[in-house]
Amino acid sequence: MSALGKVAVLGAGNIGGSLAQRLAELDIAREVVLLDIVDGLPQGKALDIQESGPILGFSTRVTGSTSLDALAGADVVVETAGLARKPGMSRSDLLEKNAAIVRGHAEAVRAHAPNAVVVVVTNPVDVMTYYFRKVSGLPPARVFGESGTLDAGRFRSFVAEALHVAPRDVTAFVLGTHGDTMVPILSLSSVSGVPLAKLLPPDRLAAIVERTKQGGGEIVNLLKTGSAFYAPTASQAELVLAIAQDAHRLLPVAAHLNGEFGEKDVYVGVPVVLGRQGVERVVEVDLSPAERSAFAQSVAAVRSDLEILAKAPG
Ligand code: 2OP
Repeated sequence: MSALGKVAVLGAGNIGGSLAQRLAELDIAREVVLLDIVDGLPQGKALDIQESGPILGFSTRVTGSTSLDALAGADVVVETAGLARKPGMSRSDLLEKNAAIVRGHAEAVRAHAPNAVVVVVTNPVDVMTYYFRKVSGLPPARVFGESGTLDAGRFRSFVAEALHVAPRDVTAFVLGTHGDTMVPILSLSSVSGVPLAKLLPPDRLAAIVERTKQGGGEIVNLLKTGSAFYAPTASQAELVLAIAQDAHRLLPVAAHLNGEFGEKDVYVGVPVVLGRQGVERVVEVDLSPAERSAFAQSVAAVRSDLEILAKAPG
């Protein structure tokens, strides 16, 4: 029996399509339903993925729909819909347009899948996760955003390349917002427990930190017509897998803070324990004074976008 019944992926763009493929290949759900407003797109991608099942050996049924009714009874919803960045844009430039899309989807989840665990991916993700939670009325633990696993994935990949070590042996935490003020935490990053500071000189580490912060933009500038989707969907699939397996994984996600890290009523990237019901708890870690101040700056950037959104018409 599959661990999950239905997983709904909202948005059948590059992210939605690639994520549906990864989830089908993991074979952890009875059904993956892909939704989009462009008729034919979700149905076509779903059918194409479904037809790879016999070759790859998965049993998950993959369907596509333009009707939000297809969310009905979903155990997990992944919100990927929205505009992606073009060169020169920041994630915050997407704020108002993506909020309008997220609003409709959050209302549909409230109506059709109130028991779901929701993973928000739409940018600017910390703000969109807050907004999705608020509009849907779901408990904060059951709505969280993807950010740190992707940013840490980039960081880990750059470290692995610099040191010629297996990428999976590099562990890292990137906290704060999924934006220019994200905070790679070097004190919590290592190669199988060996602190990075013992393996790389400060200037190389600083360059890797900087490249990580610009990691999404680096891909946008290369692709020119869209943003990254392979590493993002690998990271989203990891989160859905943790839910499916009730794995209690300790991972960084954009989580609701209610006093943890000295912050309240905001979503931002922090370490959490993740299981079948979503965020089981936020794990508070000691930050150095410099990391604390960078984290505070990061939270301030999220709050400033939340204020813009609160003042936006509609
Ligand atoms: C990224 O960092 C799309 O925000 C996403 O690539």
